[in-house]
Amino acid sequence: MRYSLQSGLLLAASLAPVEAERVLGAYIFARHGDRTPKVFGSTTLTDLGYREVFDSGSFYNDRYISDNSSKQIEGISSEVVNPKQITAYAPAENVLQNSAFGFLQGVYPPVGKVASQTLGNGSSVEAPLGGYQLVLLKESTTSKDAEDSTWLQGSSGCQKATSLEPMLSGAFPSSDMTFKNAYTIFDYLNVGKIHNSSSEFPHKSDLTDDVYHQLISLAGSHEYNLAYNASDKARAIDGAVLAGEIMSALNDTITSKGKSKLNIGFGSYGTIFSLFGLLQMPAASVNFTGIPDYASSMVFELVTNASGTDFPTDKSDLSVRFMFHNGTITGGSEPTAYPMYGQSSELLSWNDFVSKTTDIAVINDDEWCAVCGNTDGKCASSDSTSSSSDSASASSTGGSGMSRAVAGVIGAMVTLAVILGLQALFFLLGGFRIAKRVKNTPETSASAATEVEKKA
Ligand SMILES: *[C@@H]1O[C@H](CO)[C@@H](O)[C@H](O)[C@H]1NC(C)=O
Ligand SMILES: *[C@@H]1O[C@H](CO)[C@@H](O)[C@H](O)[C@H]1NC(C)=O
Ligand SMILES: *[C@@H]1O[C@H](CO)[C@@H](O)[C@H](O)[C@H]1NC(C)=O
Ligand SMILES: *[C@@H]1O[C@H](CO)[C@@H](O)[C@H](O)[C@H]1NC(C)=O
Ligand SMILES: *[C@@H]1O[C@H](CO)[C@@H](O)[C@H](O)[C@H]1NC(C)=O
Ligand SMILES: *[C@@H]1O[C@H](CO)[C@@H](O)[C@H](O)[C@H]1NC(C)=O
Ligand SMILES: *[C@@H]1O[C@H](CO)[C@@H](O)[C@H](O)[C@H]1NC(C)=O
Ligand SMILES: *[C@@H]1O[C@H](CO)[C@@H](O)[C@H](O)[C@H]1NC(C)=O
Repeated sequence: MRYSLQSGLLLAASLAPVEAERVLGAYIFARHGDRTPKVFGSTTLTDLGYREVFDSGSFYNDRYISDNSSKQIEGISSEVVNPKQITAYAPAENVLQNSAFGFLQGVYPPVGKVASQTLGNGSSVEAPLGGYQLVLLKESTTSKDAEDSTWLQGSSGCQKATSLEPMLSGAFPSSDMTFKNAYTIFDYLNVGKIHNSSSEFPHKSDLTDDVYHQLISLAGSHEYNLAYNASDKARAIDGAVLAGEIMSALNDTITSKGKSKLNIGFGSYGTIFSLFGLLQMPAASVNFTGIPDYASSMVFELVTNASGTDFPTDKSDLSVRFMFHNGTITGGSEPTAYPMYGQSSELLSWNDFVSKTTDIAVINDDEWCAVCGNTDGKCASSDSTSSSSDSASASSTGGSGMSRAVAGVIGAMVTLAVILGLQALFFLLGGFRIAKRVKNTPETSASAATEVEKKA
């Protein structure tokens, strides 16, 4: 029944003159929903957060899956999940995994009896919960408790933070009310603003819009500068790995001639920030240096204006469009298209997208070793190939060396890099942040030590 209807529609489409742009595939990357504050640990997705990610996911059903959408991904199964067409990834972390499930429920909602199966004895069985659909969620990193950890560093006393003292007492000792904790402080007060009544949050009225905006912009600038710094590629390692993954997923859509269609990844604002920096999104809007709201999503659409219904064979017919929506998508709002890489056009040809993304992406372990400045483990074994990478890394970090202790920490990461080489997405949405800091101890003076931290 359904199939004859679909092929009827396909036939009608192939007869009509093609005017509209065709969507061939997409890569969606979303931030988790509302959660409990980081400062108390054991962070969990709240019911509000579940609703947020579900609503955002439902928007993408309306846009890319639904039969009556003009942006439907060509040939995608419109009701029943086809596992060959969709791939989803989230790190093994409570808030991100639950966000992924909530989001996917919106992308492919329960189908009732449509997908019911007939047994040998003639009786029909439908899935529980009204035909609930299961989408495989792949694990993109081994990091655990990422939403619990804070990854901030640097320290300078912050007047604005200490004036918040009455609101923070009990949760933060005053020695922690510093700029380095700008995000954790913002996070704690933001959760209180959303969840606590005035009796649970006695100083709530002190958190005026003005104070709130100062806090969010302090936290934003602190976190953005940690996640991305144009002169320090290692800092944006999360974004670089994600960029490689996005390019490779869209490339799979092309090389499989559209068998694989939709990819969905989940992660933290840190990963999103470092990708924004690498894509030069702040050139499109300074808003990209602010912390994206819960359940924000960005999408890379693979589109064409080539006529016909076949998958275009000429790569010059393909383009990529970047879109972003800040926070939950509800009530008819839509993501906005922004030009990538400081261009003026919102569309980037596939070939340009590949050449620019190859420049920023980390797509194999040699590159990972070069960016991270590693010389042992996996990186040592490919010494001949990595010697040029090493000097590249040395020049990009100003000739910095690395202490033995740091090398030890990095060694553990290298084990991961081996797997990364086999499967780049292992590391993808991950909980690992590499930040560089200059130590002024005599033996490492003027040398930069690379520090690996877990975060989300
Ligand atoms: C799309 O189809 C669904 C049912 O298949 C219907 O409820 C909905 O109103 C339609 N939307 C538009 C924009 O036509
Ligand atoms: C058919 O088989 C299923 C599974 O073995 C069983 O649960 C069901 O009761 C059977 N139906 C009939 C009518 O025998
Ligand atoms: C909000 O309420 C919770 C539970 O009562 C409390 O632990 C937390 O400190 C409150 N937040 C603020 C900002 O007061
Ligand atoms: C970026 O890194 C360079 C070199 O490490 C440093 O001098 C500069 O202050 C950093 N910029 C920001 C905004 O942190
Ligand atoms: C796309 O995939 C093909 C086949 O696996 C490969 O040869 C090509 O290098 C890939 N291109 C990019 C940009 O990843
Ligand atoms: C930046 O954010 C403001 C406030 O949300 C909005 O009005 C403005 O249009 C945004 N700018 C761009 C270029 O998206
Ligand atoms: C998203 O909204 C927050 C405020 O809620 C703002 O700080 C940030 O700049 C916005 N980001 C973008 C890309 O619009
Ligand atoms: C397709 O054509 C429309 C109308 O001219 C244009 O707005 C759109 O950007 C084009 N898309 C691509 C992928 O070239």
